[in-house]
Amino acid sequence: MRSIYLDHSATTPVDPRVVEAMLPYFSEIYGNASSSHVFGRQAESAIEDAREAVARVLGCKPSEVIFTGCGSESDNLAVRGAAWAASQQGRGTHLITSPIEHGAVGKTVEQLASLQGFDRTILPVEPDGTVTPEAFRAACRPDTTVASIMYANNEVGTIEPIAELAAIARERGIVFPTKPGKPGGRLDRKSTVLGFNCLDFLA
Ligand SMILES: Cc1ncc(COP(=O)(O)O)c(C=O)c1O
Repeated sequence: MRSIYLDHSATTPVDPRVVEAMLPYFSEIYGNASSSHVFGRQAESAIEDAREAVARVLGCKPSEVIFTGCGSESDNLAVRGAAWAASQQGRGTHLITSPIEHGAVGKTVEQLASLQGFDRTILPVEPDGTVTPEAFRAACRPDTTVASIMYANNEVGTIEPIAELAAIARERGIVFPTKPGKPGGRLDRKSTVLGFNCLDFLA
């Protein structure tokens, strides 16, 4: 039986240009980027070049780009990091998310609420999966510190009104980690255009 692969948004063959660009780092430039010797410095310099290239694509500063091992790690780092930092600064402990978030966000928020004393609102979504700006505005409280809403949903394909949601969050000083999810490569990603202040982007 002939199999047809229809899941390229989840993972797809690596572009041969990417394979070619990466090959030297498996065999020639293999130093530990944290080491101070010349091999380490070569690797570090390659990582810093990559950071600058990613920053250009996203419209942010290189110092704002953090590489992680996978999407789930990025979601965890963004949500936990922002929630803990805000709580330590006494800015509040209320988190907002939606029921259609990836488990890496949904379960993280659930754990922060059940084990670490955070309060959470799970925003209802419309039948097509949209989080409306009205519902989001109504859920924001003075002690809301993090609102994590996906940019594009993996399963139903809904593209959220992310610029409007990000503007509501920004006005209130709420950290808004958004995630393009699997369709990410085909969406606008410029933070300057969309106004989000945190993006978890999957390679
Ligand atoms: C928003 C989001 N977070 C996390 C993941 C999981 O990524 P990984 O398998 O790299 O941990 C996905 C996968 O589609 C995703 O869409």
